[in-house]
Amino acid sequence: MIPWWKVDLGPQAPAAVAAAVADRRISLGPLVAEFERRLAALLEVPHVVATTSGTTALTLALMEAGVGPGDEVIVPNRTWIASAHAAHTLGATVVLAEVEAERPLLDPEACARAITARTRAIVPVHLNGRIGALEPVLELARRHRLAVVEDAAQALAVRGSDGRFLGTCGRSGGFSLSVAKLITSGQGGFVATRDDEVARRLRLMRTHGTADVVDASWLMPGTNVRFTDLQAALALTQLDLLPARIAGVQRVWRQYADGWTGIAHATLLPARPDLGELPIYVECLCPRRAALMAHLAAAGIQTRPMYPDLHRAPQFAARNPGPYPRSRRFGEDCLVLPCGPDQDPADIARVLQALRAWRPEGA
Ligand SMILES: Cc1ncc(COP(=O)(O)O)c(C=O)c1O
Repeated sequence: MIPWWKVDLGPQAPAAVAAAVADRRISLGPLVAEFERRLAALLEVPHVVATTSGTTALTLALMEAGVGPGDEVIVPNRTWIASAHAAHTLGATVVLAEVEAERPLLDPEACARAITARTRAIVPVHLNGRIGALEPVLELARRHRLAVVEDAAQALAVRGSDGRFLGTCGRSGGFSLSVAKLITSGQGGFVATRDDEVARRLRLMRTHGTADVVDASWLMPGTNVRFTDLQAALALTQLDLLPARIAGVQRVWRQYADGWTGIAHATLLPARPDLGELPIYVECLCPRRAALMAHLAAAGIQTRPMYPDLHRAPQFAARNPGPYPRSRRFGEDCLVLPCGPDQDPADIARVLQALRAWRPEGA
């Protein structure tokens, strides 16, 4: 089976993790600090705070922004559900906003319409390394005094239109290090921020609001989402591979974009690598998605359906009845084709061939 995601963790990873084990300072030790420093340098920000996942990075960031029961948090209707669960698990109400017509990215006008007296924060999501309309969202937030916590889980190392990296433009930004990301530590995540005070609070909240776990005093509420040196050891080896990973993602995208000829029944969901977007996933739209996925599976090709719209989740449906006509197409027709930085060109050629050969029944 050609896997939907393919990455090679590289030859350095096993020894690096073994060395971290041997060192014994395995939780929030020197390798975590080094990893945070290197990420901060990469993203051109003063602070990075590593956490257990992208979900906990976003949750910590919203907690730091004071989000809690009684607050509303605006999230685009098209995203991995973690973007919304971060607010939901803090007791806030998730308000889902419609996306742009052609791209599954937060529509600033829909975002403006979703603001109420209870709104506390906006979570723009840079889905699949695409550059959305962030400036109008930042402007809305300034005008209404709202926190912007960017979800850059899928957008590491992507510069936005103003030259700053995505995930570094709001109060804070959450990133993911889960498996199908540009770099991974198995599970893991981090928050980036330019603000010294926000960073100080994030660091305290990461360890139950205490500066020292051995000689603790309770400075503020918090949780335990500490990153480990075992993960940092692996992640540091992945960071060394970042240029190759970026080149790999660009190569895969180009092969699909250039080879997308004679495919009558599916369209590639566009991205703009020429503007610096980094589409780590290759998505296509097909009104007969299930039939296409079955055809590809029979040809030994694994795909995955894009996530359902969030307003379909029972925990969000009552507050967000919709309709969301733009979201529907992405939720129902979109699928992810085999991709990932180390996907084999010969396998991608096979996928393209299978797409060309497909004749849906009745077409
Ligand atoms: C857009 C988005 N937000 C948040 C997350 C959550 O990250 P994690 O899976 O590391 O918790 C993900 C992970 O896939 C994601 O894609």
